Amino acid sequence: MIRFYKEKDYTAMSYRAASFIAAQVLNKPASVLGLATGSSPIGMYEELAKKVADGKITFQHATSVNLDEYYGLAPEHDQSYRYFMEQNFFSKVDIPHERTFLPNGLAADAAAECARYDALIDSLGGIDIQVLGIGRDGHIGFNEPGAAFIPGTNHVKLTDDTIDANARFFASADDVPRYALTMGIRAIMQAKTILMVANGAGKAAILEAAFFGPVTPEVPASILQLHPNVIVCGDTDAMAEIEKNHPGVFAN
Ligand code: F6R
Repeated sequence: MIRFYKEKDYTAMSYRAASFIAAQVLNKPASVLGLATGSSPIGMYEELAKKVADGKITFQHATSVNLDEYYGLAPEHDQSYRYFMEQNFFSKVDIPHERTFLPNGLAADAAAECARYDALIDSLGGIDIQVLGIGRDGHIGFNEPGAAFIPGTNHVKLTDDTIDANARFFASADDVPRYALTMGIRAIMQAKTILMVANGAGKAAILEAAFFGPVTPEVPASILQLHPNVIVCGDTDAMAEIEKNHPGVFAN
């Protein structure tokens, strides 16, 4: 089942998305949270930090596993996803640092690191709620469009589109790492709940394609149509194509 929430702006989208994470840790304090980086979930992380500061929720008993990390960047690099998570979430909430996990971007043996990460997720009993953004090409994590869905954590070459989209964070496109380690489709699909956040007009077409088009590895997010419990929180701009062509689907 897919529930679509259309919110008036980024703040309202972030608030809505945060409410699902808050409910998750209230219901199950020792939840395993699958987390994402990128611009889409930043407001949600801010809202969650407020809820922790206000004493409404705690992440003291939670564990987190992030979707992905650039391969070749040290955790201290200001564009690494570890750094992003420290800045935007981990340092602002009470989650124990030793229970926050990302793929190790400096692992010498990428294949061994991928296997280790899958074993780690399995040893945690899988993911309770997985936060996802969506790339303009339909990627989730760094699972890029391709000929097949890749089940396990994998070492991927980033597409030109993704390098372009991420170049804004680096001095130039040449500085964007070419490879990343990303959780695969199996761990994502085995998450009990999927929480996607998407904002801005640039996501409108791909959101419609992902959730109303064919299920195909050419649009990696389309596999989520086969997941039993998906929540998609978007602002009006991101939901524009869905609203135009499937106006009856919204839960709010
Ligand atoms: C981030 C990630 C990516 C982003 C996607 C959207 O950990 O795995 O798939 O979710 O590229 O990025 P933003 O939110 O910046 O539009």
